[in-house]
Amino acid sequence: MKSITRAIDSSLKYVTQLSQRSIVRAIDPSLKYVTQLRPSGTEVYKVERDGVAYVLKTNPLAYHAKDWGILHIRQEIDVLQAAEDVDGITHLVREYGEIGGRKVSLLKEFYNGTTLRSLGGFIKDTKLQKKLESVVRSLHSIGIANLDLNNNTNIIISPDASDVRIVDLGCGVFSNNVTERMFQGSVNMDMNALEFIFQQ
Ligand SMILES: Nc1ncnc2c1ncn2[C@@H]1O[C@H](COP(=O)(O)OP(=O)(O)OP(=O)(O)O)[C@@H](O)[C@H]1O
Ligand SMILES: [Mg+2]
Repeated sequence: MKSITRAIDSSLKYVTQLSQRSIVRAIDPSLKYVTQLRPSGTEVYKVERDGVAYVLKTNPLAYHAKDWGILHIRQEIDVLQAAEDVDGITHLVREYGEIGGRKVSLLKEFYNGTTLRSLGGFIKDTKLQKKLESVVRSLHSIGIANLDLNNNTNIIISPDASDVRIVDLGCGVFSNNVTERMFQGSVNMDMNALEFIFQQ
């Protein structure tokens, strides 16, 4: 019985991988599918081209134009374009319009490491704290806030624990799209999230 269940499991995994491969190929045939990253409101794939890893993020197939996934990816594209000179984030490589049956997709740098969630949710190393704080302050200084830092899967730490990246800016807001008070509220929220992450 166990071996039948195992066989069904591995067949299902194989079919899922085949379909994920074809999703990636339909969006950009120059990319090679590697694996699916933790699925949520969007589909997120680790992909590769010429030995370099990237992240391909696309909206789920069954969509409505106002779906959260679509708005989230469009917002992330806008924020990443505005933040192209900011260090400490995974930069935009390419955006895709309607292609492969998807409404919108983006390709960004892949950062190898471990999510803050997997590391317990706290950063105690002061050098690393300074690095993350400086990324957050740089984004604030160019008018981007609401960095969703409470979601500790959006923060990735390098394998030697010496460096950090914010990998998802899809919740970011622009200061010129909201009132000054709302923007300051988002800045405060980011700083409170940092304080929580840095608590000793
Ligand atoms: N640039 C990247 N480099 C490495 N890993 C990444 C990168 N982007 C995303 N990931 C991994 O994939 C996961 C999902 O990606 P992302 O946060 O962009 O999608 P999401 O749909 O917004 O998910 P969530 O709702 O969990 O935030 C991340 O939590 C992270 O673990
Ligand atoms: Mg995320």
